[in-house]
Amino acid sequence: MQKGDILDLEIVSSGMEGEGVARVDGMVVFVPLCMQGEKVRVMVREVNKKFARATVIKVLEPSPDRTEPLCPIFYRCGCCDMQHIKYDRQLLIKKANVEACLYKALGRKVQVDDVRGDGKVYGYRNKIQVPLAKVGGKVVAGYYKGNTHNVVPFGQRVREDLGACVMYTGGMQDMLDAFLRYANEVGLDCYDEQKHTGFLRHFVARRVGDKYAVVIVANGKKLPLEKKLIEVLKNTGREFSLYFDSNTKKTNVIMSPDIKVLYGSERLDADICGVRAKVSPLSFMQVNDGVRDMIYEAVAERIKEDADKVVIDAYSGAGVLTNVLAKSADKVYGIEIVPEAVADADELTEQSGNVGKVENICGDCVEKLPALAEKLREQGRRFAVVLDPPRKGCDERVLDALKSAKPDKVYYISCNPATLARDLARLDDAYTIMSVTPYDMFPETKHVETLVCLEKK
Ligand SMILES: C[S@@+](CC[C@H](N)C(=O)[O-])C[C@H]1O[C@@H](n2cnc3c(N)ncnc32)[C@H](O)[C@@H]1O
Repeated sequence: MQKGDILDLEIVSSGMEGEGVARVDGMVVFVPLCMQGEKVRVMVREVNKKFARATVIKVLEPSPDRTEPLCPIFYRCGCCDMQHIKYDRQLLIKKANVEACLYKALGRKVQVDDVRGDGKVYGYRNKIQVPLAKVGGKVVAGYYKGNTHNVVPFGQRVREDLGACVMYTGGMQDMLDAFLRYANEVGLDCYDEQKHTGFLRHFVARRVGDKYAVVIVANGKKLPLEKKLIEVLKNTGREFSLYFDSNTKKTNVIMSPDIKVLYGSERLDADICGVRAKVSPLSFMQVNDGVRDMIYEAVAERIKEDADKVVIDAYSGAGVLTNVLAKSADKVYGIEIVPEAVADADELTEQSGNVGKVENICGDCVEKLPALAEKLREQGRRFAVVLDPPRKGCDERVLDALKSAKPDKVYYISCNPATLARDLARLDDAYTIMSVTPYDMFPETKHVETLVCLEKK
């Protein structure tokens, strides 16, 4: 097989990235945007020792589960991976991916529940971060085409309640449209990553209820004619706050901590599972409100039933889950590495009336979790641990600390089935997997969130 070959292939399974997988003379070929059971004509793009990558030129025999994507630029934009697959089939693929990761890491079949969701397949994202670029002399917004930094401008809106990107709401689109009108009328230029010149970098917006936090991220110190932008945003008739984020570094990190309010309030009030949180544009929040609440409530329910009323919430972010859990526990410790998030968590704890009940610890779980677990063990306290790490999963030292402190229950929330499975294998001699429940936090994409409940052996 060589780069540039045209082949007719049968797709025999799905890969971890939501793509189709074919086999040619023992070689695995990954083919995005097709699915098991299909026959496709492809062009080979890359050949490595053990695998190749190819792109579809023509679908010869489509699966009955193939569907027309709602987004008109789905096949060009690199944002979603599964809009060409009927939703029920997407859920089966995600479940099978979780099962496959567990099988690979643990060497045995583990029972996995059906994927749960809240029924909202589009318009679910409460946060967007869109690169800005100049195309045809106009400032446009759109995501990068897969594996490139070339912006694919959004197409037309297909539904009034949705954005041009169907993952966010019509309200979010109103804010983006207003901003683009302003940017083009004022004649702003866009940032060039290679040359590190130019001004506009990203449009970031967060929806909290029916209010919007709009952040303009730019390579500069001041937004020109900010009053004009405030006026056009006001004309949308929507409630908003406006921020300017000055990001003058040569970096892939979207927002810098140098952010100031241009209009409205510093934070927006959110109600998350009965906890009134103040959300700033910089604080981490799960992107799908409905599914986030389902997961938080599932963990809180379990903890309510547990005998252990002390909980360590490791990787606790801005402390929302920590304070939700405080309703089910006597004492909750949050551990989070980002000091700003811990400051938010402290404020939230105070507002929620949980001072004394919730303690937010700033530091690396690698150091703080073993020390805290050891302290609780010495005091003879029984406790449960919630793990909600970033995609790379938990450091081995965190898992070792769990194995020596032996909390009765561990609840692991993960956005990456591969690192989740690796970590469960490391805990396997000490913990029994009681349940594995995937949640569809990111419909129409390859991503899946999973909650695993573990009990000490
Ligand atoms: C997936 S988020 C979970 C946040 C929170 N549980 C929630 O639901 O909003 C992971 C969090 O872990 C934090 N983090 C990453 N590495 C860490 C470490 N080594 N120790 C402590 N916190 C860490 C990140 O800053 C981030 O806030």
